[in-house]
Amino acid sequence: MTSSKPVDPHGDGPHASEAVANSAEHRWAIIVGLIILSLIAMMVFTGVYWSSMPPSRVETIDVKTLHLKGEFVENNLGTSIEKDGRVIVRLIAQQYSFSPQCIVVPAGISVTFRGTSTDAIHGFVVGRTNANTMLIPGFVSTFTTSFPKTGEQLMPCHEYCGTGHEAMWAKVQVIPPDEFFAKAKAAERLSCVSR
Ligand code: CUA
Repeated sequence: MTSSKPVDPHGDGPHASEAVANSAEHRWAIIVGLIILSLIAMMVFTGVYWSSMPPSRVETIDVKTLHLKGEFVENNLGTSIEKDGRVIVRLIAQQYSFSPQCIVVPAGISVTFRGTSTDAIHGFVVGRTNANTMLIPGFVSTFTTSFPKTGEQLMPCHEYCGTGHEAMWAKVQVIPPDEFFAKAKAAERLSCVSR
């Protein structure tokens, strides 16, 4: 009969180790709970104050006819000013380049990117900005951002897409808005690709 023995709570009997385990579990439950609460608080904060959205919208496109008709035909790629005044950049990614290879955007004005891929999964990030997305065949990725500073930024592919991945990149030129709108008067689609 072992159960009738008196238990010393400060000793190292089975009940003492159970108490240690319980209090450790309790402590970790509180820590994990606090981490979850702080993540939820962060989601609410970024959602309310930065209006950041989870990527919930799904827009599909037929990869087979991408080059032939619709929004992503070659002469529709680049930056344009829509009838409602919005600045839209349309681009496609393919192994191992972006079209256009050089993108022009105005500084300090909100710019919407619309892009897709013709083959593998690609992605891009513009310099150290928050302009960052994946480009997936069959889907249109879109986001709106603005670039406060003028200058040239590199735009590398950041999804491993094959042997040429590390050589896949484009440039983004952020120019003063007046210069941008003057250029936009001269051409319907803007890019800084040298011809
Ligand atoms: Cu395209 Cu990596």
